[in-house]
Amino acid sequence: MEKTGNSLSPASITDKLGTHFIGQRVIYYPSLTSTMEVARRAAQRGAAEGTVIITDEQTAGRGRVRRIWLSPRGNIALSIILYPNIDYLPSLIMLASLAVVYSIEAVTGLKLQLKWPNDVLINSRKVCGILIENSVRRGRVDYAIIGIGINVNLRLADFPEVSPVATSLGDELGREVSRLDLIRRLLVEVERLYLALPSGEFIYQQWRDRLVTLGRRVQVRWGKTVYQGIAESVARDGSLLLRRTDGSLTKIVAGDVTLRDYK
Ligand code: BTN
Repeated sequence: MEKTGNSLSPASITDKLGTHFIGQRVIYYPSLTSTMEVARRAAQRGAAEGTVIITDEQTAGRGRVRRIWLSPRGNIALSIILYPNIDYLPSLIMLASLAVVYSIEAVTGLKLQLKWPNDVLINSRKVCGILIENSVRRGRVDYAIIGIGINVNLRLADFPEVSPVATSLGDELGREVSRLDLIRRLLVEVERLYLALPSGEFIYQQWRDRLVTLGRRVQVRWGKTVYQGIAESVARDGSLLLRRTDGSLTKIVAGDVTLRDYK
């Protein structure tokens, strides 16, 4: 069992992991700017598919839409390098979200919710953020990177700037959670779902069925634009289908959702 403040070693992650390629190569840094940055450079140099960049602490963790992602010690911050077929790019956010949900539920017993497009919540508070970055040229994917940040043993009381909207597994359970157990399970789930991508609809269906957003009255903010309506469904490409008050259906590709009638 990992002790508080322990560092993660690549060997402890890869040993008898049981995957074919995800997590078979792990590159660990005690501290980094952002695992996305290092993963991008590694992918550009042709790192093997499934290579994981992991760190104990990020000094410039990146969130969506250029936000800062708080990433102190005790949490999980990792990026996974993939070279998928272009058809599967929209599914990466779905498979990453599901892998996070399944692994946290398996390791902790906590019940999680997904909020479109990429928030993983416990009791309406964010416990994990997922960032997908990719490079596509002439219709081919150079690389895709899944970045996952999980609040594991963070004490939110020490971070009042995010404590109203965020939580951690440790705070929810009142005890420490093994990052190692969680990382290993996460990598197994990512590979299982990634390998299932060619076999059809089921990742999309499972993701859609876990979204607490659907059927809710929501506000979606994208830059200066704000949409209101009922989140009716999600399309196969991951976009949100919003039923507006005038009856029209708007397809929203990206944005921040606030659940208006969430209980
Ligand atoms: C979000 O919800 O805005 C996405 C947050 C993604 C954070 C992870 S932590 C590991 C990886 N490295 C980063 O700099 N960001 C992602």
